[in-house]
This record gives sequence, structure tokens and C-alpha cells, in this order.
Amino acid sequence: MGGSVLTNKRGWREKADLKRIEGLCSAVARAWRKSGRDWVIVHGAGSFGHPLVVKYGIGDGVQSYGQKLGFAITHEACSELSVFVTGALNTAGVPAVSIPPAMVIMSKNKRISSFNTKIIDDYMESGYIPVLFGDMVPDAALGGSVCSGDQIIAYLGKKADRIVLATNVDGVLDDKGKVIPQITNSNFDEMSRHLKAPEGKDVTGAMEGKIRELLELDTPSYVVNGLAPERVEALMLGEKAVCTEIRK
Ligand SMILES: Nc1ncnc2c1ncn2[C@@H]1O[C@H](COP(=O)(O)OP(=O)(O)OP(=O)(O)O)[C@@H](O)[C@H]1O
Ligand SMILES: [Mg+2]
Repeated sequence: MGGSVLTNKRGWREKADLKRIEGLCSAVARAWRKSGRDWVIVHGAGSFGHPLVVKYGIGDGVQSYGQKLGFAITHEACSELSVFVTGALNTAGVPAVSIPPAMVIMSKNKRISSFNTKIIDDYMESGYIPVLFGDMVPDAALGGSVCSGDQIIAYLGKKADRIVLATNVDGVLDDKGKVIPQITNSNFDEMSRHLKAPEGKDVTGAMEGKIRELLELDTPSYVVNGLAPERVEALMLGEKAVCTEIRK
């Protein structure tokens, strides 16, 4: 669930969009029930993360006292957003439990170097839906760094059958605003000229960051508009919907 769906990324204010969160979480709940599959949910940080990373200057390391305070404040804000998501999922009948990445991931130079996934497996085996999110994590080289939801998805997605990414656009768009149906390593270079910086603040590469993470995987992934929750539901059920498919 992209932070661009859950919050208003153009503003500095930490404002959750409860209507959108509810809409997306109800669709995910329906698909979870119908699919009879296990799902892991990962959400982005939107305006609860990106602007704070810029404000405290913690995008390239955490060393000073002020940066450590920024780490703590940003982590708390991301966890706060997660409470809205798990809350909406619980209300829709999904036993979702938040697992803060700051407690289970360690990075080195901004890339995940260790990940205690056992806790995720244990929860899943007991019938819960784990919810992770873009967060600040300890970093062996930099003191602390941003770990995007996209990176977490790429890590966990290696074992998945399918990845569905809900964001605030219909898919990856070309320069005329048309959805590109499929991206693979063979057409990535050609289509990468369509990728541009998003509106508002973003510290994890927006759409380009997403695609770069996903192109490494054998698992197919689908970038879909989370503002049209029925499309997310369809893709979770293996049905067709407007989206961009990304595969190796
Ligand atoms: N060619 C493109 N097609 C679609 N979106 C693009 C393209 N180039 C850049 N973007 C930007 O990427 C954004 C989506 O990525 P972004 O990281 O903002 O969303 P998100 O991952 O849902 O949010 P968050 O990072 O907070 O979780 C779009 O809103 C758009 O501004
Ligand atoms: Mg993003």
C-alpha cells in the first residue's frame, strides 16, 4: 500500500487519508477472504516519512544528536501511520499485526543486511497477517538509514507467488500518460525516460525506485492504482485489471 494512497504526500503535515485507507483496506480484506492465501502487507510512509527525513537530514546517515532525534521521531511517525492501517484492516475483519521494521531489519549502506523474518513466518503460521512498513532502521555503516517499503517488498517477495503494489497512479505511465502494460529488463532502459521525480517530497526514488527493486525478482509484480481499490482486489485474486506488470 503506497504512502501516496494512505496520505497526502504534497503536504508537510502528517495527515492520514482515512477514507482512502478504509477503501483500500476493505478491498484487501475481501481479497484476503476470497483468495484463501497468505498475504504479507507492506505499506509506505507517505507524508509521515519522506518530509521528516528531509527535515532532519537523515537520508544519508544518522550521526549527530539532532539526527538521532530525527530517526526516533520519523520512526514514531511511520509507526503511527501503521496503526491507521492495522486499525482499518482489523475493522474489516483481518487479524493484521504491525511488525515495525526498525525492530527486525538491520541495513548496511541503505541496503538490508539482516532481517529477522522468523517473526513474520511465526505470525503467518498462526493465522495472522503481518504488516510492515517503510521505516528508519539501524545501519551498520551509516548509523541509521531509510528502508523503503519497496525494498522490504523486494526482500520478502522472493518467496511470494505474486506482488501487488497499490500507488496513486494507474501504473507506470509513458509520456502521454498512458499505462505501460509490461516492463521487463529488456525494455526498462527504453521506458526509463518516462520516469520523473514525483510531486512533493520523496526520498526513496518514487516509481523508479519501485521498478528497480522489482526487476530483480522472479516473482511477477503489478503496479496498480490504490485509489481504485477494486483493481487491487482483482489483481490479488489473479484477475485482470488496469496495471503495469513488472517481471524479470
Ligand atoms: N512514469 C511514471 N509513471 C507513473 N508515476 C511516475 C512516473 N514517474 C514518476 N512517477 C511518480 O511516482 C509516484 C509514485 O511513487 P511514490 O513513491 O510517490 O508512491 P508510493 O510508493 O505509493 O508512496 P510512498 O513512497 O510514500 O510509499 C507517482 O505519484 C508519480 O508522481
Ligand atoms: Mg515510494
